[in-house]
Amino acid sequence: MTTNRRQFIKATAAGAIAAGLPGASAADSHESEWRPLEILVLGGTGFIGPHMVREALRRGHSVTLFNRGRTNNTLFPDLETIIGDRADNLTGLEGRKWDVVVDNSGYMHHDVRASARLLAPNVDHYIFISSISAYDSMAEPMHEDSPLAALEDESVTEFDWSLYGALKAVSERIVGEEMGADRTTVLRPTYIVGPGDHTDRFTYWPVRVRQGGRMLCPGGPEHPIQVIDVRDLANFTIDVVERRITGVFNTATPVGSYSMRQVLEDSEAVSATTVDPVWVGDEFVIQQQLMGALPIYHPITGDYSHASSASAERARAAGMHNRPVRETIRDLLTWWDTLPAERHENARFRMTLEREAELIAEWESQG
Ligand SMILES: NC(=O)c1ccc[n+]([C@@H]2O[C@H](COP(=O)([O-])OP(=O)(O)OC[C@H]3O[C@@H](n4cnc5c(N)ncnc54)[C@H](OP(=O)(O)O)[C@@H]3O)[C@@H](O)[C@H]2O)c1
Repeated sequence: MTTNRRQFIKATAAGAIAAGLPGASAADSHESEWRPLEILVLGGTGFIGPHMVREALRRGHSVTLFNRGRTNNTLFPDLETIIGDRADNLTGLEGRKWDVVVDNSGYMHHDVRASARLLAPNVDHYIFISSISAYDSMAEPMHEDSPLAALEDESVTEFDWSLYGALKAVSERIVGEEMGADRTTVLRPTYIVGPGDHTDRFTYWPVRVRQGGRMLCPGGPEHPIQVIDVRDLANFTIDVVERRITGVFNTATPVGSYSMRQVLEDSEAVSATTVDPVWVGDEFVIQQQLMGALPIYHPITGDYSHASSASAERARAAGMHNRPVRETIRDLLTWWDTLPAERHENARFRMTLEREAELIAEWESQG
């Protein structure tokens, strides 16, 4: 490790201590002797996992993957992959030791309990990738101490998306119980976006802008939008690994720093296209039941009125960096263009130009 790297870690750890962050003293104890770490990733081949794995390898660490061998199973031929299933087969993890585990595939709390309990004696640090969905309400701004969603019946055994946030909240608690707070980190990302995003949510907007013309745009130009670039999340996760930062951190772009107008402007700039936006109000979006069709955007009234108000200042004080969203859009489109036509045609969010024109006509007829 270079002197510069040591100095950087020392400076950022000192910053974390000044900010009163949980785990800051632990980070400081690691500043003097960097060494390559043995990292176990539960998952690793989905969307966020590969970015984390590559960043860890780039920084000289060793990575072992644990998954079922179904998703993108040729991605890392040079890495050891332990095949198993979080639901009922952790045998391959037994008796093995790692410095740190990054759990990015924890959805069911029972599975998270099983892995955390098994690994607690054999890993020093457990990083659980949660979500801002873990908060009880998105009708209020979210900070790390905001109330969390409650799971009415913890005996539930079937995953259901309606329980996603509550299951995340319970899983966070369980990791803390099994590992102890001083060995646990919880990261709560907002919408994760960038190359490899299989949800097609944020992608909808730059891809649509590239088509040009009159464009149905919800809310208004200053409607807030919040995302986290997958590479910024990966960088911060590996910072957390290296500096052994513990505690709870939202991960998102700064509140109020980005808007629908900027999504359009950045997308126009990247693809050298222009659109003629037709801003339809929240009421129209609700009346036409368009919420599910216009991803990332939420009306500024109602249950999701503050869905773009997750403060990630704690993570930024601990060193998280957000790249300009324009860069995310550029790289997202570059990646998107590598995908086959069939994948484009079957995008999860896709509105035909004819349907858009119909909706715009309806909006204009309502005067
Ligand atoms: N996408 C977002 O905007 C967003 C926002 C907030 C939080 N998050 C969180 O980010 C995390 C990762 O998301 P992602 O989209 O990258 O994940 P993903 O696509 O679900 O990938 C998950 C990985 O886990 C493995 N896996 C899945 N089920 C498994 C099982 N039963 N046993 C063992 N391995 C299993 C998969 O490989 P195999 O299929 O081969 O097993 C794959 O390697 C999740 O915890 C999610 O809640 C996502």
